[in-house]
Amino acid sequence: MTAKLIKGTEIREEILSEIEEEVKKIKEEHGQVPGLVTILVGESPASISYVTLKIKTANRLGFKEIQENQPEDISEEALLALIDKYNNDDSIHGILVQLPLPKQIDEKKILNAIDPDKDVDGFHPVNVGRLMIGGAEVRFPPCTPAGIQEMIIRAGVETSGAEVVVVGRSNIVGKPIANMMLQKADGANSTVTVIHTRTKDMASHCKRADILIVAAGVPGLVKPEWIKPGACVIDVGVNRVGEKISEKTGKKIAILKGDVDFDAAKEIAGSITPVPGGVGPMTITMLMKNTLKSLKFRLGIA
Ligand code: GUN
Repeated sequence: MTAKLIKGTEIREEILSEIEEEVKKIKEEHGQVPGLVTILVGESPASISYVTLKIKTANRLGFKEIQENQPEDISEEALLALIDKYNNDDSIHGILVQLPLPKQIDEKKILNAIDPDKDVDGFHPVNVGRLMIGGAEVRFPPCTPAGIQEMIIRAGVETSGAEVVVVGRSNIVGKPIANMMLQKADGANSTVTVIHTRTKDMASHCKRADILIVAAGVPGLVKPEWIKPGACVIDVGVNRVGEKISEKTGKKIAILKGDVDFDAAKEIAGSITPVPGGVGPMTITMLMKNTLKSLKFRLGIA
């Protein structure tokens, strides 16, 4: 059997078109557009490329977009002052501080300073709590887990009563997606197991999974024999395993590999996400969706 490919690049285009339509309609009816500020500290090439893509996407959708590029040696006070400025700017609905931050800055202090109602990354403790309660309490589901859930739904995979196994317990992916999939809600209602580096027998848990979500950051961790025939496999791993010259641009690019042995897994799974082109493109898409949602909350139309 060859699994159905769940393509993030295609689902992204569907969702971005939906957002674009909604932005136009809100602009006509309310005279406002979503406003996003991206705060980039330093010059890490990976962070620059993520932020550039976020900016490009926001512009394409007709958002107001502000870039704050700050030097590597910025002080914590100066960064807090910048956040305070945008917390108080009514034309800004989403504040994104690109992580990681340099050593002199306490990341937690910075994330906690963002107004929870502008925290479109969903990292503030208030939004983590809202997500845990579920239902109407949820404001900004974190972007990668939100993208994963959206892919599962749009691929037509049944989640109600499904055995979901999550590999990895990070605050950004593992813990929130586990929490989202167990909620009493459409696209959820699953029975969830979270496994991690101290789990005794990872294989036995994975073999039970109707939906296997892997976010471990270990290339090729999940072996094909761990996959239940017909399962939906979501590979969140983006591991740089080397470099190559791009055929399109002639420039050096990273060779990316997921946490799942894709070539073998696709012969067993019912559906599977590729790397690259799977979960990756969904994260920025959901950031845009959260920024639009933030404006809708402000206008009382969410
Ligand atoms: N760095 C890597 N991923 C992310 C993300 O989702 N949000 C932010 N703010 N920084 C990141």
